[in-house]
Formats: sequence, structure tokens, C-alpha cells
Amino acid sequence: MCMNDVATHLGATPETVRNWIKARDLPGTKMGGRWKFRMSEIEEWAESVGPSGNRASKQQTTAPFAPNLIKGDCLDSLRTMDSDSVDLILTDPPYNLGLFMQNRDAGIMRMRDNYFGTAGWDDLEYDQWVDYMGQLFDESARVLRKGGAMIVFMAVIKVETIVRLAQEHGFYYKTTGTWHKLNPMPRNMNLHFINSTECWVYLIHGARTGTFNNDGKAMHDFVETPVTPKCERAFGKHPTQKPIALMEHFVKTLTNPGDLVVDPFMGSGSAGVAAISMGRRFTGIELDDVYFDIACKRMGVSA
Ligand SMILES: C[S@@+](CC[C@H](N)C(=O)[O-])C[C@H]1O[C@@H](n2cnc3c(N)ncnc32)[C@H](O)[C@@H]1O
Repeated sequence: MCMNDVATHLGATPETVRNWIKARDLPGTKMGGRWKFRMSEIEEWAESVGPSGNRASKQQTTAPFAPNLIKGDCLDSLRTMDSDSVDLILTDPPYNLGLFMQNRDAGIMRMRDNYFGTAGWDDLEYDQWVDYMGQLFDESARVLRKGGAMIVFMAVIKVETIVRLAQEHGFYYKTTGTWHKLNPMPRNMNLHFINSTECWVYLIHGARTGTFNNDGKAMHDFVETPVTPKCERAFGKHPTQKPIALMEHFVKTLTNPGDLVVDPFMGSGSAGVAAISMGRRFTGIELDDVYFDIACKRMGVSA
């Protein structure tokens, strides 16, 4: 098991697990700079710690809430949610690149693990996508509380559209940041620049500032993590699955324990795994049966 498996299993963050290794003898071995764990030893450790000690501190800080996972269209589902009830919308919608990719397609691209050109969930014409995203911002503004935040992942070539739409629907634009993948696949590296970044747009609803837990440290507008590790795909693959560490960064910074995080385009559920393991409430919505099933398994709920 890797660090993220153990964190999910224990309902804690990787940071907490690292603290337990140091301070509470959680059994693990460092190999090639990475922690490795045996399930049997983790179970034994958790058992020995008992209902007091670590377990008690775990219960204070993590996972008291069961996730609310909804299979269906996100606009339909958002329309059923209470107004002013959400603290953070953390989402990774279709980037409207599906048709673009299909039009430039070469056979080899289809063989890639992360090829989504023909997946069917990103094949709207630009105008249809703009209309859909406009409706999403409309509903998001309704369900977010005043001062609630929204993080929208996006391809750099579509950021301008997202910022414009968000402002038209009453959001206060804060930041466009970058996710830098530390170990992207170096495809055709002698022919062009390696594709190693995606953007995120940070917005606030009804105010100019909101929750911002920076622990007094300067926080940059780029986040660096490795790409999604294999162990986070144990229940199945999603072609654009985000790593839990990336989602944790936003959950930790923009919400407090007990807050409600919503992901209307949940996919395999990385935002939910991060939110639940950090003691936040989570509602996730996903249209596709297969990805919904993966998300349910990752969060330990029956589909
Ligand atoms: C970019 S992926 C999200 C991946 C996710 N961040 C993860 O870590 O797995 C977008 C997801 O939105 C879903 N989707 C597309 N249109 C939707 C809609 N109208 N309602 C709900 N989900 C939708 C797709 O099936 C896809 O899984």
C-alpha cells in the first residue's frame, strides 16, 4: 500500500499519517524515497491504538461525515440543493477540448491512458458548452453561501471564457493558478514542449474574500504534485483523474472542518476522497455509471 491508500483507509490526510509514523510508531518502510505499508500491519496498529489515543484524535480531525453521492446530471441535481448551503465548489468540468482533440486525432493518441476525445462527456460545440457552463455558474451562485469559494479546473486556452462567464454570473474573480505535474509523461519530448500544466480559476461568491487557511505563510498561485499515482486508481481508471494531494490543497486552504464541499463533475471522486478524509462534508455528482461506481468504491459507499 502507498501513503495515499493508508491515508484513505484510516480516514486521515497523508500529513497526519506521516505524523503518526513519527509520533505513534505507525509501521511503514521507506523505499526509494516513498513510504510503503502492509495492510495487515496497518490493521494491527489501528487495532492496538484502540478507541483512545490516535483513534480519538483521528475522530476529532477527520471523516465524521458520510459522503452524499448522486448519479445524474449536475444541473438537475444542483437545482434540488438548498440555497446558501455550500462552502466550496471544487470541480473539474469538461474543458471543451474533445472535438478539438478528435479533429487533430492521430491513431496513437487513442491508445493513451488519458485520451478522452471519444469518451462522450466532452463533445459539445463551443456555444453549447458556454451555455452549459453559464447555467452551472447560475446554480453554483445560488447554492454557495456568501463568501463561499469556487475552484474550476480548466485548460489554459479556455480560462478567459470561464472568467468572463463567472463574472457575468456575479462571482468575484480572484486568481488563475497553475497545477504543475512534476512527472508528466515525456511524450515526443524532442519535438515539442511537454504538456505538464493545467489551470484552476479561483472565484468567490457574493464577497471579495472568503476562508483562506494559509497558516500565515505566503501561498503561491501554482501547485505542484506528481500525476495521479497508480494506487489511487485501484478501483478503476478515469482518463482525467486528479491526484488526491492536489484536491487536499484546496480543501485545506478554502474550507474548515464540517464545511460542505460539492463537486458537480465528480468523475472518480478525488475531490470527495480529499474532503471526507479532512473532516468536511461532501456532495458529488457524476453522470457516467462506470465513474460513479469508482467514486463510490473509493469513498466506501454502495452504488
Ligand atoms: C474532467 S472529468 C472529472 C475528473 C475528476 N476530477 C476525477 O478526479 O476523477 C469530468 C467528469 O464530469 C462528468 N460529467 C460530464 N457532464 C456531466 C454532467 N452534465 N453532470 C454530471 N457529470 C458530468 C464526466 O462523466 C466526467 O467524469
